[in-house]
Amino acid sequence: MKKYLDRSFLKNPLFDYLKWLVIKTIYQLRYWGRHLRINYKCSVRNSKFGKNNWLGPYSEIANCTIGDFTYCGSYCLIQNADIGKFSSIGPNVKIAPGKHPTTSHISTHPSTFNNQTNFVKNFVTENTYKNFENVSIGNDVWIGANCVIVDGVCIGDGAIIAANSVVNKTIGAYDIVGGVPAKFIKKRFTDSEISALLTLKWWDKDEHWIQEHISKFWSVGEFIDNFGS
Ligand SMILES: CC(C)(COP(=O)(O)OP(=O)(O)OC[C@H]1O[C@@H](n2cnc3c(N)ncnc32)[C@H](O)[C@@H]1OP(=O)(O)O)[C@@H](O)C(=O)NCCC(=O)NCCS
Repeated sequence: MKKYLDRSFLKNPLFDYLKWLVIKTIYQLRYWGRHLRINYKCSVRNSKFGKNNWLGPYSEIANCTIGDFTYCGSYCLIQNADIGKFSSIGPNVKIAPGKHPTTSHISTHPSTFNNQTNFVKNFVTENTYKNFENVSIGNDVWIGANCVIVDGVCIGDGAIIAANSVVNKTIGAYDIVGGVPAKFIKKRFTDSEISALLTLKWWDKDEHWIQEHISKFWSVGEFIDNFGS
């Protein structure tokens, strides 16, 4: 049985500050020239980044792959997630926060199904339930403030998740969804526009291409007239 170690005495403003500074320095040096910004008290563990990522204050990022330009606001918990490029994650969003058994096991309490170190006592030596699952989020996705993206969910390119939603099912490309649980509200564009955008994959173009054509980004019709096949 794994032993619980009480490390709470290490929790103090000075230790937290130094820990943040060490993590920030290691990651920002590792991504030197790729402009990774780890804001105040944001913690990062076992994650990979692209270019120009901005991670909000007090957020926690663990076991993630995050594409170019994707950013998150403050107080997010983002773990076990593959996230594409140019996605915007609002403040206080929780992605793959973990799950407990609902109908299979007698109890929802982790001490009865998981041997983990953050409990004073466990009743098992082996895990009998997988309480974390990966989440996949596409490119150019916008997740509004306070959303929860439940473990195991996939969100397609260009989707929008309205503020305060709980997403518990796969969301299609360019869908706008909202509510608890999140329901389909509308498509962002027509089917042919969506298909052109998904073929074009503008997020994979280099920065010079985006800079050169940025004014075309402001009208879907003009964008597709110019670049759609
Ligand atoms: C979804 C959102 C983007 C609005 O998109 P929009 O294209 O302007 O859509 P509308 O405002 O016309 O709303 C369309 C429908 O969605 C509903 N809706 C809007 N926001 C919703 C929400 N958070 N939850 C549930 N339904 C919502 C509207 O009531 C409307 O329903 P109706 O057609 O039955 O009247 C916006 O409401 C939102 O949630 N923004 C996120 C803001 C945020 O969190 N910012 C943080 C900084 S990143």
